[in-house]
Amino acid sequence: MAKYLDILSERAKKLNKTIALPETEDIRTFQATVKILQRGVANVILVGNEAKIKALAGDLDISKARIVNPETYERRDEYVRAFYELRKHKGVTLDSAAEMMRDYVYFAVMMAKLGEVDGVVSGSNHTSSDTMRAALQIVKTAPGVTLASSFFIISVPDLEYGSNGTFVFADCGMVEMPTPEELAYIAVCSAKSFELIVQDKPMVAMLSYSTKGSAKSPLTEAIIVAAKHAQEIAPDLAIDGELQVDAAIVPEVAATKAPGSPVVGKANVLIFPDLNTGNITYKIVQRLAKAEAYGLILQGLAKPISDLSRGCSAEDIVGAVAIICIQATANNK
Ligand code: COA
Repeated sequence: MAKYLDILSERAKKLNKTIALPETEDIRTFQATVKILQRGVANVILVGNEAKIKALAGDLDISKARIVNPETYERRDEYVRAFYELRKHKGVTLDSAAEMMRDYVYFAVMMAKLGEVDGVVSGSNHTSSDTMRAALQIVKTAPGVTLASSFFIISVPDLEYGSNGTFVFADCGMVEMPTPEELAYIAVCSAKSFELIVQDKPMVAMLSYSTKGSAKSPLTEAIIVAAKHAQEIAPDLAIDGELQVDAAIVPEVAATKAPGSPVVGKANVLIFPDLNTGNITYKIVQRLAKAEAYGLILQGLAKPISDLSRGCSAEDIVGAVAIICIQATANNK
């Protein structure tokens, strides 16, 4: 098993959480289920048609997972009514709510909303916006949170930077073009996620192609404003920007390019200016540095939901499940 996944799995094991996996038309879901159950990472609910699930799973032993079929589930009417109540102001009728509750992803997210599972991991077989919309429409943001966003846990083997090679990268998948205020909010939420998942002190870098005024443009100005705003809303956090990646993560470069930076070249939470940079970077690091990459993990929602990349492996699904279990402990508080 990959090294960081081992750490995440060991933590999740102690929590006894239950996670819904709705993508039961994809073999990777069952391959992941076998690993999750064998390692005791979580209890699994597979959402779908029992006969089809068993046919597709074949010899994979998923017998310890519970299967819930949205068509025949005893609480189906309650689910339809709950979705109708949540979305009637958007023109949803009881009939269209009944149709939506046939969708396995929407149904699984409703299971989280109604407290039947602790979280949902989806996305290997759906576009990101499919899973995110279900999450935003049904579980919505946590009380007091105005913006949901997403992060990846990236763990690079044999790397001295970050927290022993482990980082939070954000936002890699949700908020496409954040304003400086939104970027500040993403930075602060990501620091909290880092603390919860990685259990180390977050050092937050708001990244740019410029360090401390080495270039000046509206793009660099936006990062400076965002960093200032983040420092104002979270004065106890170590946050700095605008920083280039080397000044953010390499202490010797930071000493030259950004002397006096509170992050001192030890950033472990990397905040990207927009979704292009965030998404491109995480995939480059994952593929070229052979890093473990777990996510997207949504943050700021009332219930933990992960939105996998369609290129994910079964091990990536296990990692997302473990993180969602850990996130669920914070949601309970
Ligand atoms: N935080 C909090 N609420 C949000 C939100 C956010 N980041 N984004 C949207 N919402 C709210 C909307 O205001 C809306 O509220 P309402 O319906 O109760 O009034 C609700 O969530 C649903 O939004 P909807 O209008 O259906 O979706 P959208 O068109 O705003 O799209 C995303 C939301 C996340 C799907 C969209 O931003 C998106 O596609 N992002 C990129 C995803 C992607 O492709 N990533 C690639 C990663 S590999």
